[in-house]
Amino acid sequence: MNNRLNARPSKLLAALALAAAPLLIPAEAFAVDAAAAQALARQSNCFKCHAVDKKKEGPAWKDVAAKLKGNKDAQAMLTKHLTTGPKVKFEDGHTEDHPILKAKSPEDTKNLVDWILSL
Ligand code: HEC
Repeated sequence: MNNRLNARPSKLLAALALAAAPLLIPAEAFAVDAAAAQALARQSNCFKCHAVDKKKEGPAWKDVAAKLKGNKDAQAMLTKHLTTGPKVKFEDGHTEDHPILKAKSPEDTKNLVDWILSL
């Protein structure tokens, strides 16, 4: 009797640990891979006109993240911006098609968008 009572807490803990384990997996799958996002931005030549925290020909990505903070359409807007090549206006007034991201998959695009929005 005594033995069984003693055994219970550890069994309960083991059961809890097993139950919690699957919960950790999706959280990791959604985490932003900053290194991969930066590598993709480099391959796509984005840094020619952008930097994380300083304005170049295009806005600093930190400013983009700040501008879109709390906007529930931010993810969709940036995904569209980076996959459709919209006409954008430069400081000197000329317009040209914004470059399209050279992503291999929608997941890569999402990772980069999430990374920019997390800045
Ligand atoms: C030739 C210069 C140039 C290159 C290269 C470039 N951009 Fe831009 N980008 C701009 C300009 C200019 C704007 C501002 C557009 C505006 O405000 O209308 C902009 C805007 C943006 C925005 C903000 C969009 C918004 O809705 O506020 C993001 C995010 C962005 N670029 C990401 C990227 C990524 C990722 C790449 C690489 C695929 C890239 N840019 C390559 C010039 C560039």
